[in-house]
Parts: sequence; structure tokens; C-alpha cells
Amino acid sequence: PESSADREERLDRLAALRKEAIGCRRCPHLASFRSQVVFGVGNPNARLFFAGEAPGAEEDRLGEPFVGPAGKLLTRMIEAMGLQREDVYIANILKCRPDLPEGAPGNRKPTPEEMETCLPYLREQIGIIRPEVIVALGATALEGLTGLRKGISALRGSFLDFQGIPLLPTFHPSYLLHKPDLRLKRQVWEDLLLVMERLHLPI
Ligand code: URA
Repeated sequence: PESSADREERLDRLAALRKEAIGCRRCPHLASFRSQVVFGVGNPNARLFFAGEAPGAEEDRLGEPFVGPAGKLLTRMIEAMGLQREDVYIANILKCRPDLPEGAPGNRKPTPEEMETCLPYLREQIGIIRPEVIVALGATALEGLTGLRKGISALRGSFLDFQGIPLLPTFHPSYLLHKPDLRLKRQVWEDLLLVMERLHLPI
């Protein structure tokens, strides 16, 4: 069992890291394009950590990860597990929205350089929170945390390892929105059930 001093220390370390990230200008393009840094949200003592890719337009506007259409689906996934967003922690590989040409719609994937530059923040967040399970949402999060490039279809369905923490890759919610395929939804639900089992959540 954890003491309240441990919890306090966790809060302090996360706050200090957030402060550092908020002022970060390591990627000049991203720093001038973003409207704000999207550090992460949730319970500093979370047992479950969701790692995503990068902020989109809504996240950039509101300063919170997964609040756009994909985020609404992620929230439903969390609730289907019997949890609330406030119970888990949610953060992305990239804390800034990838820049686009003026007026261009949509999003772009982070470059390998951007991922390398920003990853220390996510690694540190995981190191502070020390969750019991990490869910990597999509191939970018999977690759960032494990270096594995085989993709979600090949690697979902069983746990990998991130620094001693079981990591389960599954499809990104925005992929589910763009590819409405019953089989994919079944697979994601299977993955979430594995996580619930691992955390001894009521099924
Ligand atoms: N997609 C992500 O990967 N992260 C977000 O925060 C929003 C959408």
C-alpha cells in the first residue's frame, strides 16, 4: 500500500514535468503552430494508462488529450470497462499538434524526429505514475514505446512489455471511426477484456 507522502510526491513530480512541457520549444515548428501544449490528463495514481499519438484540432484548442471525435469513442471504451476518464491517465507521444500548411484540414503523423524529441515526456509520465497496465492506442504509440513496427493487427491480443509494465497494443479509436468494421470492434473489446482481467476489474 502506498503512503499519502508517495501520492504527494507523484503530484509534485507530475506538476514539475507539466511545467517543463508547457514551456517546451524543442521543436520550433510545433511550438509556433500549437495553441497550447497538451500534456496529459487523469489520475496521478492511475492503474491504467492510455497512450495515444498526438493532439488534433480539438485537443489543441482545449488543452486536453482525446476530447475530439476519437476521444469521445475512447471515453465510451473506458466507460464500457466500468471506469471513468478520471480513473485512468491519458497522454500522447507528442504533446503538440503536428503543424499543417495554413488552412489544410485533418492531421498528419508525427515525424520520427518529433517522436524522439518528445518521447522523454511520455516515458517520464509513465515512470511517475507507474501504472499496472499501459494500452498503446495505434501503431504510432506502439512504435514510440516499444520500437516495434509490425503494426497493431500483428501485435494486438497479447501483452508486450514497457520497462516491466504490461503493455497492450490495440487499434486507435480514430481508426475504428474511419473503418467501421465489426471485426475490429470485436478485437478491441477482446483487448479491453484482457486489460480488465489483468487489473481484476469486474467483468
Ligand atoms: N488522437 C490521439 O492520438 N490523441 C489525441 O489526443 C486525440 C486524438
